[in-house]
Amino acid sequence: MGARTLWILSLGLLSLALPQERPKLPLDSLPESLGETLPAGLEGELPPAGQAEIALGRRLFFDPVLSADGSVSCASCHDPARGFAGGERFSLGIGGQRTLRNSPTLFNRGLAERQMWDGRADSLAAQALLPIADPREMGSSVEDALARLGRSKEYAAAFEAAFGGPANPERLGRALAAFVGRLTRANSPVDRFRIENDFAALSREERAGLWFYESRGRCWKCHGGPNFSDEKFHNTGVGAVEGVPEPGRMAITGLSQDRGRFKTPTLRGLDLTAPYMHDGSLSTLEDVVRFYREGGRENADLAPELAPIEMTDEDAAHLVAFLRALSRELGAR
Ligand code: HEC
Ligand code: HEC
Repeated sequence: MGARTLWILSLGLLSLALPQERPKLPLDSLPESLGETLPAGLEGELPPAGQAEIALGRRLFFDPVLSADGSVSCASCHDPARGFAGGERFSLGIGGQRTLRNSPTLFNRGLAERQMWDGRADSLAAQALLPIADPREMGSSVEDALARLGRSKEYAAAFEAAFGGPANPERLGRALAAFVGRLTRANSPVDRFRIENDFAALSREERAGLWFYESRGRCWKCHGGPNFSDEKFHNTGVGAVEGVPEPGRMAITGLSQDRGRFKTPTLRGLDLTAPYMHDGSLSTLEDVVRFYREGGRENADLAPELAPIEMTDEDAAHLVAFLRALSRELGAR
């Protein structure tokens, strides 16, 4: 055996011993029907879509065919078992690469327009095409993805059934948006407490936390409304280094007042969606509450709503208990 052969053999053994980390490919274990009505607590209209369109989007969401080498699906980074969030600080994309930001939950995104931490997509349908072409995520192009879909008779039939015509970029985006828009989360004990005045739905600690959120905590100022988000952009200082914030929303609008601003995320489903923040820098809800207790992270453009909060350890525990209660889902009644 020559030295060259030995070399190749040992390289082969090495790659067996160190297999490249591959994104997971979660299976679709969601209920058969996703429901056309909003769970208690949410308001608004789900974007209209036919059943065939939703079914097509659902299939595409779990199918790695959208990625260049068949290794990554949307669900790889938006895992149903993790509230359709990533579960790690940065998610694994194609070829062992990691995303630059934390993969957010997809819950209740159908009720909002602007998508992404910096709001760079104006609709769910526009958003859906971005990961396909992102070199770190699915590493393909919309054109190539459509060509791969075109080789499948089943997908051709599914597009025909959904749209009465062949796949194109607009239909691909619409189908994915139809499915993603139906991933809802609400009907928590907090909703029951608020809607039905059901006092017993929350424990004493959880009620104290809700009160803190609404008063001294000032959380409601940005995490207000049925989805606990104003869908606006604020600078909380997450990601700021030595007082210098990341560009954030400013990179999209070019406006200096948008420096360091990111989209307010929902507070629903947090028990499933750790780690938190656009850079996944906070691992637990206790860490998040500590972050706000200290007034966010200091920088020149910090949101005026943020300042150190007078809070006892007990208040902090109550606030966490409230956030956890918001994560629980009640059965139908
Ligand atoms: C490799 C990981 C990865 C894959 C694959 C991926 N995403 Fe994402 N997704 C992310 C990250 C990271 C963000 C946040 C990006 C940002 O804001 O800069 C995101 C953001 C989103 C958002 C915006 C949510 C919000 O709160 O604004 C939606 C919707 C979404 N993804 C849907 C999809 C769909 C549909 C697919 C498949 C076509 C997909 N994603 C594939 C990682 C991924
Ligand atoms: C000035 C507006 C504002 C206020 C006030 C505010 N938040 Fe936030 N919150 C945000 C923004 C914006 C983010 C995303 C920050 C980032 O990642 O850059 C965020 C992120 C979070 C997250 C992470 C969610 C996730 O999925 O990553 C939690 C939890 C949270 N806030 C809870 C609270 C609590 C509890 C309070 C009150 C103590 C509060 N917030 C007050 C705007 C605000």
